[in-house]
Amino acid sequence: MKLAARPGGPLQGKADIPGDKSCSHRALILGAMAEGETRITGLLESDDVLTTARAIKALGGDLRQDDGEWKIRGLPWRGPVAIDCGNSGTTARLLMGAVAGEPGVHAMFSGDASLSSRPMQRVTLPLARMGAVLQGGDRLPITVEGAHLAGIEHRNIPASAQVKSAILLAGLGTGAPVMVIEPVPSRDHTEIMLHQFGCHVSVDDGPEGWKTSLGTRRTLAGCELRISADPSSAAFPLVAAAITPGSNVMVPGMLVNPLRTGLYEVLEQMGGDVELSNERIQSGEIVADMRVRASPLVPCHVRPERVPAMVDEIPVLAVACAFADGESVIEGLAELRLKESDRLGAIVAGLTACGVTAIVDGESLRIFGNGKVRGGASIATHGDHRIAMAFLTLGLAAEQQVEVDEAKMIGTSFPGFVDVMRSLGADIG
Ligand code: S3P
Repeated sequence: MKLAARPGGPLQGKADIPGDKSCSHRALILGAMAEGETRITGLLESDDVLTTARAIKALGGDLRQDDGEWKIRGLPWRGPVAIDCGNSGTTARLLMGAVAGEPGVHAMFSGDASLSSRPMQRVTLPLARMGAVLQGGDRLPITVEGAHLAGIEHRNIPASAQVKSAILLAGLGTGAPVMVIEPVPSRDHTEIMLHQFGCHVSVDDGPEGWKTSLGTRRTLAGCELRISADPSSAAFPLVAAAITPGSNVMVPGMLVNPLRTGLYEVLEQMGGDVELSNERIQSGEIVADMRVRASPLVPCHVRPERVPAMVDEIPVLAVACAFADGESVIEGLAELRLKESDRLGAIVAGLTACGVTAIVDGESLRIFGNGKVRGGASIATHGDHRIAMAFLTLGLAAEQQVEVDEAKMIGTSFPGFVDVMRSLGADIG
């Protein structure tokens, strides 16, 4: 299904953004590993998260949805089981870790064409060092047989929250030291949520890097979790507001964990009018209301160490850069070639088609904006939800409409995207 965004008036109002995808996957997986019942509100009901829910049911998890609340009871996991992870890297990588530490469980992980082309050895190699029994290479399908695992001290380079989380989940079943060291911190939702389930996890910023270690208490007790709005989904209406003259959009209850808010910090440095209010703690995470008003943007220079805090927002940050007057540089983007698509290639091709000069320079992206964007193109999304949403965002503020070749995949992370954008006044259809 194709979809087009047409330039129009300002975007205004409150955007109801669904729950955070990373936290939703983790809530289901940790709930399945816990003793007793876990109750989750605000769970993102997107294709990726429902893939994790189906996998957990197949593994023997008792999972029910009741009037907007998800209830899950941790059970002894069963196998053998075949787990189709669809498009979801988080499902595959986190569940491989969880299964690896469950003796007696045998699971075969597969995925769609995109996921089957993404590297998995970054997870399977450390799991194998812990004693996990695995069959397969660097790509899905991979079979994992749960076992009693040993501890590990793993250098996680490049920093990856999925790899770190897989190791921490695998390590819950062992009493041995489990430590992950990263050059820069990746998102820490697994650590925060493990605390909510009663586990001890410590984080130290030492000369070797960020050390995340499991403590002695590693049994999970079911708990209540409330998932807040996903900053990676909110990025589309909020950047649309920044680049569409006269706009004023507010997202209530957004996750503002500092390891996820890199885009918003850069947007402010670019002259974006970003306002945070009503900061509070919800299920261990920092949450706030965020408002963005339209304003002229200047170019940005993003250093590699900042990228993990905005790794999924680079396509929409590139769109903001296209509307800034001058050259923007975003460094340290090698990992973008390994996401749901080759995002570096897709961003450059899409911007070029819309009349914006953009080049890849080694691991950096250089975007030469002049304050306005022609648009008037059909964008190849390569089945990537964030490429589709980023270029539809661009189309709202361009001179001519922008079409994306495939919009179905938007449902992997933000099923209500079109309705939310339309509710703000966007002309998308
Ligand atoms: C995720 C971590 C990130 C991100 C992905 C979700 C997670 O990947 O790109 O969309 O939920 O842990 P990394 O593993 O590269 O940090």
